[in-house]
Amino acid sequence: MALKLVIIGGGSSYTPEILEGIIQRQDTFPVNEIVLVDIEPGKDKLETIGNLGKRMIHQANANINLSWTLNRREALVNADFITTQIRVGGLQARSIDERIPLKHGFIGQETNGAGGIMKAFRTIPVLMEIAEDVQEICPDAWIVNFTNPAGIVTEALLNYSNHKKVIGVCNIPFNTQHSTAELLDVKPEEVLIEFIGLNHFIFGKKVLVSGKDRTEEVFDRLIHRETNYTPANIMPLDWSETFIQSTKLLPNPYHQYYFQTETVLEKDLQSYQENGTRAEVVQELEKSLFELYQQPNLKTKPKELEKRGGAFYSKVACSLMDSIYNNKNDVQTVNTQNNGTITDLPADAVIEVNCVITKDGPKPISIGKIPSPVKGIIQNMKAMEDLTIQAALSGNYQDAYNAFVMNPLIQDEKKAKVLLDELLEAHKAYLPQFKQ
Ligand code: G6P
Ligand code: MN
Repeated sequence: MALKLVIIGGGSSYTPEILEGIIQRQDTFPVNEIVLVDIEPGKDKLETIGNLGKRMIHQANANINLSWTLNRREALVNADFITTQIRVGGLQARSIDERIPLKHGFIGQETNGAGGIMKAFRTIPVLMEIAEDVQEICPDAWIVNFTNPAGIVTEALLNYSNHKKVIGVCNIPFNTQHSTAELLDVKPEEVLIEFIGLNHFIFGKKVLVSGKDRTEEVFDRLIHRETNYTPANIMPLDWSETFIQSTKLLPNPYHQYYFQTETVLEKDLQSYQENGTRAEVVQELEKSLFELYQQPNLKTKPKELEKRGGAFYSKVACSLMDSIYNNKNDVQTVNTQNNGTITDLPADAVIEVNCVITKDGPKPISIGKIPSPVKGIIQNMKAMEDLTIQAALSGNYQDAYNAFVMNPLIQDEKKAKVLLDELLEAHKAYLPQFKQ
């Protein structure tokens, strides 16, 4: 049987990771056609990745026909799965998202604060177009979206596009599960963390190891700094005993932006002066990755790719697609529609949640109420995400301003305008909807 995967943003430096994941799963998830899609400015990178991919497939003796194209609509014909990993405006745009807020004394980050909102403004319209193409050309296909801000983008597609088979993924839950397993010296499959929240804003409520509650032990060892599940893009910071013991929740590395704002800002400003922002560090990293990828004797995914914050994202994506294909009914943490799973969030909100993965997609496992300490901030973040989506779709200035001023990392009525005006101007080439 034919099984076709289309990777949109195929020229990304991350692509060898997903190719490796597919090659390793040939027995259970027999993808036999992969098409990499990119746009004109990414043509050279696409070709480099395509040629490396061919060498990887040949080396592994896998039965996969790999090709690449700039024609997205053609690529989508007969697709079963589509992964989306695009960066509208490239790392250049990310650098602007990080630099402008920092310049005004705010956190500048890929998916948080003003930068995260701008990334959503640039990305949502493009993903909407992709989803409409999918609905028209291969309506039965699943879109697995990694494009950031993944939760917000997934919500925009599920609520406003005609294609409803969309799932958002991130490596944060995976990283947390794996580092917890390492800490407790057990296998990752034995660890089940009950998560609650949103993409890049989830908390761990409970840690079960083969059904046994070991939450307290994990809290204790986190306090004593025995574990660190921070991805490469975030500075590892400690959590105080009081924070962990009072909230009784396992934070994720992105929470430092909200609960250690001053410390992070100080450190970010310092590293910005020393090495530039993360986008600039990643630009250098990419340069050396692509030099490596061009070497004809490279036939596997190089270890250096693990220096990227998104390392292992494709393990998450591949096991998700494998479980859908095989109707595995296993539990994975993905971004999907709430529909009553968390009782104090809107039904149409996209949440990051443990789901049973079936051939009909993810079935969220009921959670109930949000724990009191973080109820307000999670509701606030969700409301801000919704404002962001409204503005991304309408291109209306007031809508955009509302998202900015209500963002917990901004919340300053005058500076919100300064930031928004400067960012809209800097990104205008990628914001056709804001022309007015
Ligand atoms: C984390 C996040 C990803 C994000 C990445 C950034 O892993 O979960 O969503 O894309 O970091 O990593 P980078 O290497 O691009 O800074
Ligand atoms: Mn992520």
